[in-house]
Amino acid sequence: MGEILGLGVTHYPPLAGSDDDMAWVIRKALQDPLVPDHAKDVSTWPALMREEWGEDEGRTSARRHRARLVAGLDRCRAELDSFAPDVVVIWGDDQYENFREDIIPPYAVLAYDDMTIRPWADLAHSSGMLGRSNYWQEGPDAEISIKGHPEVARWLAKELLDKGIDVSYAYRPLHHDGMAHAFLNTILYLDYHRRGFPYPVIQFPLNCYGSKVIGDKGFVVSLGDAAPLDPPSPPPWRFMEVGAAVAKAFAASDLKVALIASSSWSHAFTTDKTWRLQPDVEADRVLYQALVEGDFDVWRARSLAEVEDSGQQELLNWHTLLGAMESLGRKAPDWSSFEESYIFNSSKAFAVYRA
Ligand SMILES: [Fe+2]
Repeated sequence: MGEILGLGVTHYPPLAGSDDDMAWVIRKALQDPLVPDHAKDVSTWPALMREEWGEDEGRTSARRHRARLVAGLDRCRAELDSFAPDVVVIWGDDQYENFREDIIPPYAVLAYDDMTIRPWADLAHSSGMLGRSNYWQEGPDAEISIKGHPEVARWLAKELLDKGIDVSYAYRPLHHDGMAHAFLNTILYLDYHRRGFPYPVIQFPLNCYGSKVIGDKGFVVSLGDAAPLDPPSPPPWRFMEVGAAVAKAFAASDLKVALIASSSWSHAFTTDKTWRLQPDVEADRVLYQALVEGDFDVWRARSLAEVEDSGQQELLNWHTLLGAMESLGRKAPDWSSFEESYIFNSSKAFAVYRA
């Protein structure tokens, strides 16, 4: 009988940079000439957003945001260490990194061997770190070793296909050497204090960005750079089915497994109804309340149109985790927190579902 720990974390790229730089996404959006003046007018912003912006464009509140995120990450890392998994499976978004025009799988199991990664060389483009210094002051030659578990990954792909989940799989990277930002940042942040990350990792990328994954390259673009829409991602309920199938496979194994959903919640830069200046914090609150109450039906009922309208594309990673937890009979998480924010592109949540 397998044992399963569920965790929800963030891989918020600006956390890897400096506090001065943490609000760069909104600073860039405010330069966009197509964003109307009334939306840029600080006096019209929600109270928390004005408070975060403060007198220094968020430089002071960035310190608080970092402290809260690191506290949440540390709590999740402590749970991971006391559980001591045989393998860690991470659900994260591939933002036009490993998968591009030649193939966009709906979701995939990456059955990779051990890797040696240079985070600040490999992540430079994909997480907006090009030309920025990182919080740890590590150079482009700094290396970290990450263990893989290709045998379990191959077994997982087989189990999913047997269960009718048509998962793709790969044995080596396609376009992105090392790991895409959702996975690498998750490991860098769970190892924020640089003690090492000893657990074998299976990356499980999801096509969260759907209609924007190639056109917008899954990232920050100006309002005027309108590209044709790509085909959509799978719907939220399908990601919940994928998560449930993963959980059932591991529950019937003899492994100790940590299932980690990695993403921030509504993203300002994909929320068109706010001119990409504000995330949809209201929609996030509704879903967080449902998470705290163990009300999985609220999550299942979300349509893809609602997800896109609220800039919650990356939350599909959490849909997958919640599908897994529901199938195991879990209800409320054993611990969770919701770090509300407007100017740092997104609110972030953390959740722990103990085995
Ligand atoms: Fe992401």
